[in-house]
Amino acid sequence: MSRSGLFISFEGIDGAGKSSHIDGLAQAFRAQGRNVTLSREPGGTPLAEKLRELVLNDPMDALTEALLIFAARRDHLCQVIEPALARGDVVLCDRFTDATFAYQGAGRGFDTNLLSILERMAQTGVAPEPDLMREPDLTVWFDLAPEVAAERLAGARVPDRFESQPVEFFRRVAQGYADRAAAAPQRFARIDAAQDRHRVWQQLTSVFVRKGWLSIMVPTPGAVA
Ligand code: TMP
Repeated sequence: MSRSGLFISFEGIDGAGKSSHIDGLAQAFRAQGRNVTLSREPGGTPLAEKLRELVLNDPMDALTEALLIFAARRDHLCQVIEPALARGDVVLCDRFTDATFAYQGAGRGFDTNLLSILERMAQTGVAPEPDLMREPDLTVWFDLAPEVAAERLAGARVPDRFESQPVEFFRRVAQGYADRAAAAPQRFARIDAAQDRHRVWQQLTSVFVRKGWLSIMVPTPGAVA
């Protein structure tokens, strides 16, 4: 039986804890017989990973940054996401375009109308339906107060260009995510990321069970960091 692909993105400010749950979800889907493609943005292809290194480490002006992010996204869609969806995979993607609206738009103050134009250019004409602008079927948003995220991140790793921003920046990014979620409530699932890991996992998996994408509640994976 062929199954249609699912495209799920995971979002939130740095330190919200999303990455540690994505592997657990991949295991849960695989245990229920689905093929899973795990990926991330910026990145996910050899070219896009090179662009990621530049975007995260090299100083550049705001338009250059946005263009590189969407160039990476286009390559990722062409090389990885669309082929995976065509095979019927579950694609779990650590960040996608909502991050661009939150970080470059709300965080950096870049023109969101221009971001919408770039979004349409980069995400249209890759899916089998020529006019379809590819977007996630579901976006899981790990919502956490910037002050709490900053505490969690403190000393955890060498910060990149974004992680080293002041808490004010992350307040704007968090508001950017809230605005995106309010504009597309049917696509977003908000997770209260201030809860302990077990409760976050329960809330997360209950979203997938309600949608009929996972058939049972899955115990919190012990191996999740
Ligand atoms: P990560 O640390 O979650 O992998 O994300 C890399 C950083 O890139 C993170 O600080 C958010 C930032 N970012 C943007 O600024 N714009 C984007 O479109 C994406 C996908 C990530």
